Amino acid sequence: MKSILSENFLWGGAVASNQLEGAYIEDGKGLSAVDILPVGEYRTQYFCNPPSLEFNDEFFYPSHVAIYFYHRYKEDIALLAEMGFKCFRLSIAWSRIFPNGDDATPNEAGLKFYDDVFDECKKYGIEPLVTIQHFDVPLELCKKYGGWRDRKLIKFYENYCKTIFNRYKDKVKYWLTFNEINIILHAPFVGGGLTIKEDENDLEIKYQAAHNQLVASSLAVKACHEIIPDAKIGCMLAAGTTYPYSCNPADVMAALEKDRESYFFSDVQARGYYPSYAKKFFEENNIKLEMGEDDIEILKKYTVDFVSFSYYSSRCTTTDEKMLQNLSQTNIFHSIENPYLEKSEWGWAIDPIGLRVTLNQIYDRYQKPLFIVENGLGANDTLENGEINDDYRIKYLRDHIEQMIKAVNDGVELMGYTTWGPIDLVSAGSGEMKKRYGFIYVDRDNYGNGTLERYRKKSFYWYKKVIESNGTEL
Ligand code: BG6
Repeated sequence: MKSILSENFLWGGAVASNQLEGAYIEDGKGLSAVDILPVGEYRTQYFCNPPSLEFNDEFFYPSHVAIYFYHRYKEDIALLAEMGFKCFRLSIAWSRIFPNGDDATPNEAGLKFYDDVFDECKKYGIEPLVTIQHFDVPLELCKKYGGWRDRKLIKFYENYCKTIFNRYKDKVKYWLTFNEINIILHAPFVGGGLTIKEDENDLEIKYQAAHNQLVASSLAVKACHEIIPDAKIGCMLAAGTTYPYSCNPADVMAALEKDRESYFFSDVQARGYYPSYAKKFFEENNIKLEMGEDDIEILKKYTVDFVSFSYYSSRCTTTDEKMLQNLSQTNIFHSIENPYLEKSEWGWAIDPIGLRVTLNQIYDRYQKPLFIVENGLGANDTLENGEINDDYRIKYLRDHIEQMIKAVNDGVELMGYTTWGPIDLVSAGSGEMKKRYGFIYVDRDNYGNGTLERYRKKSFYWYKKVIESNGTEL
């Protein structure tokens, strides 16, 4: 059977430096914001607005060793190659390159590490797709400047971008500016290195930081096009359409407004200007943005080449106050329960058709190529006699890929699909290892016990076939 997907469709998987590398202070790396996030009951508080930026002896910090990709990347990339990966999405840890974020010169050992990783990918014909900031603002920038609330970060980020574009211009042709840029509204610390005091106008701080990131993102597009003319650079959104709970027009309007909270970001990055609804929102919430003289021009001139997003679930909303008391959470987004959907062990609603809806909506909105750069099921696998039978993961992915192919059939232009966490890694939201997404099992538990050995799961062989057949054998 002939596939509807193009011959060079980018099948693969996606990871983030802080969730797999470990080696958190090796070879000159500085601390990242995420390095102070513990596993356990305080995780969410630290994720969103930490009470302190210092270590606490009573906490266990999973990013410090993670799955030790820093020392085992050759073995891991060989396994991805065995599955036939065309693309590997990974992030660069800013603090490996500039340990404090604002240093005058980069750390050569950090630059060398990613050279080696990209060379290893190239050896197998795997295209790297690099996220420039994935939840890892250098901690010193949080302490010294209050994170992205300060415009100075635009310059530091631009300098970091130019450094990595110049260094990797022959090795990396696909880039993403900020992972899930809209997450800053929901988890300001991981999204923007922000800590917000109770008496501050938190919306104003978040949108100011968002504005600074949007300008920085445009400057990254500019620098990327100048330094690597044959590269493509995109934005990245935590997506998932919001359904109205009922056909009551008030619910429909509420859903539209919820979606605008996220599309606000890609509207600016893909179209080049603030949407009209943002102006009204800013007025109503007393948000006054500090802007540089050229900001509007920069946003306008340097829009992204493509729009990428993560998709785990759809969301649902209502105007019924009573129902709004009972919210569940998926990927930090609050939603009322959708009675038509089942949930994962971690309570995330499972909605493959929602992926087709989301793809169509975003494509209708921007008419730019799309890229699904995260999708997957976090589940608690069991290793028995060296085997992991993760049929539930195969089902989740199969159902989503089916809907993705339908969306392409609808006319959506899609560059690729990278599942989240092809090798088990630390969960961003919970800090757990037992919330596993991988095709490759890693022997390590929530508190650092285990051999770190790697095992192929049943889904490993399944995904290999999917890639081989370009999506015709699911
Ligand atoms: C996305 C992030 O929000 O979801 C990843 O970009 C994250 O970093 C993924 O790991 C899955 O979330 P979690 O909390 O299950 O790890």
